[in-house]
Amino acid sequence: MNDIAIYTEGITKKYNEMLAVDGIKLEVKKGELFGLLGPNGAGKSTLIGMLSTMLEASSGNAKVWGYDIKADSTKVRKSIGVVFQETTLDQKLTGRENLDLHGRLYGLAKKERHERIKEVLELVELEEWADQTVTKYSGGMMRRLEIARGLMHHPNVLFLDEPTLGLDPQTRNHIWEYIKQLNQEKNITMVLTTHYMEEADRLCNRIAIIDHGNIVTMGTPQELKSSLGGDMITLGLSTEDDAQKLKAKYIEKESEDSITVSENKVLITASSGERAIPEILKISSQMQLEILSVNLHKPTLDDVFLHHTGKDIRDSGSEKAGMKKHGRMHRRRR
Ligand SMILES: Nc1ncnc2c1ncn2[C@@H]1O[C@H](COP(=O)(O)OP(=O)(O)O)[C@@H](O)[C@H]1O
Ligand SMILES: [Mg+2]
Repeated sequence: MNDIAIYTEGITKKYNEMLAVDGIKLEVKKGELFGLLGPNGAGKSTLIGMLSTMLEASSGNAKVWGYDIKADSTKVRKSIGVVFQETTLDQKLTGRENLDLHGRLYGLAKKERHERIKEVLELVELEEWADQTVTKYSGGMMRRLEIARGLMHHPNVLFLDEPTLGLDPQTRNHIWEYIKQLNQEKNITMVLTTHYMEEADRLCNRIAIIDHGNIVTMGTPQELKSSLGGDMITLGLSTEDDAQKLKAKYIEKESEDSITVSENKVLITASSGERAIPEILKISSQMQLEILSVNLHKPTLDDVFLHHTGKDIRDSGSEKAGMKKHGRMHRRRR
């Protein structure tokens, strides 16, 4: 068990009758950069809340850095740093004051606080901004300060809940670099949640895809994508009826490939996309079905999500609902 940073068994959170987290079992190894990928409302923040002892589990067990989240919650808290989805910085204080406050809460002595503040500010390149109030910070800078704060007390595990939510692509890249660097150079075990597939794909050693409080599938990004077993082809037809006709005929000829219809779209996982496309075109011309669009691509994590849940992470991820819910953040983060 020595190389296990986080272990959960049947961990569950119920809000009234609603299962926000439904008996999750997982193991995160020390040193891993582990991702929880899922749409809004999947239960990611609730899971992080329980692991960081901020929320009480309804049932099940979990250990973080060897400590039980119920029996040893103080030790768990000392072993972890948390960057919450919503900012918890004190806007009226300067960056340095926010860090100092955190150091005091964790019982760091004055000299130690001074040294550590210097170190963490350097790490996230905010030395020059340290004595400005947080109101003057951009969204990306606030995120960096929160990461720095999470690191003040030398945690073994850092939880990052939607670390780049609402940030522009350039700032997002910047944050990704820090996350990678902290994991690789400082050897900090990290658990991050995201509903951005690209983020999970680019950063994480291993990913658990979660939906409706359950783990749908788990593995390295490569394993998850290869598990679909081929190239992804998406065809747009005029109507759902046409799509169904094409599907029926294609299955007759290529029974090995997996094929599904979603509205007027046909989704095929083919062992060879290059071979499948001429076949599809032949069938559609014989049946006089008009093909409006063709897309061939290597599997993405979105395809993995679609394969397991029958829906698109971007649609179910309620990017729009997310915007609404976090509209305040979107405006403020620049
Ligand atoms: N305090 C709460 N009371 C009732 N329901 C909640 C509460 N917090 C979260 N939920 C519900 O639990 C589910 C999971 O939420 P959450 O963990 O925030 O998901 P995610 O972080 O993946 O977007 C959602 O359906 C959400 O509405
Ligand atoms: Mg969340």
